[in-house]
Amino acid sequence: MNIILVGFMACGKTTIGKALAEKIGYAFTDTDTLIEAQAGMSIPDIFASLGEGHFRKYEADVCQMLLKHQDGSVLSTGGGIIVNANNRALLRKAGKVIYLTVTPAQVMERVTDYTTRPMINYPDPAKRLKIVTEMLTKRDPMYRNTADFVVETVNGNPEKAVAEIVAFMRSKK
Ligand code: S3P
Repeated sequence: MNIILVGFMACGKTTIGKALAEKIGYAFTDTDTLIEAQAGMSIPDIFASLGEGHFRKYEADVCQMLLKHQDGSVLSTGGGIIVNANNRALLRKAGKVIYLTVTPAQVMERVTDYTTRPMINYPDPAKRLKIVTEMLTKRDPMYRNTADFVVETVNGNPEKAVAEIVAFMRSKK
């Protein structure tokens, strides 16, 4: 069984995912890292030179690959992966899907270098907050519909999130 983490940018997928993987002895993988390896360039460079559409195509390919992924992995996913309905179906087939929630205010606080996040790369904080809020409002139902379990990470406590995921996975055995 794989554990797949979904959620908006800066919800803690990498931090919580790595801590969870270490705790339960699973491998940790990230879809953005797989895409960067395949494309031979960074996510911002893919957006800048090939465009978002091309990035989404890479993302869809990676979802197909996840079906063949070795069992026993924690897989962190890019925040926009769930916008595509086929990706949502593939993620659900590839493992148990966990949604980590975050608020727009937390995203604003946590993303200090927004230039690494092309979808919210706006220097004006008011504009950035507006975009973050709109995207999160649109995506939240998609994350929830895809997820087997939702972890409310609003107070930002990785250990608590890890414990909740471990308890959920035990309840499924
Ligand atoms: C994106 C989120 C990013 C990355 C890309 C697009 C999005 O991943 O996949 O910049 O559309 O929300 P993180 O959620 O890991 O930042």
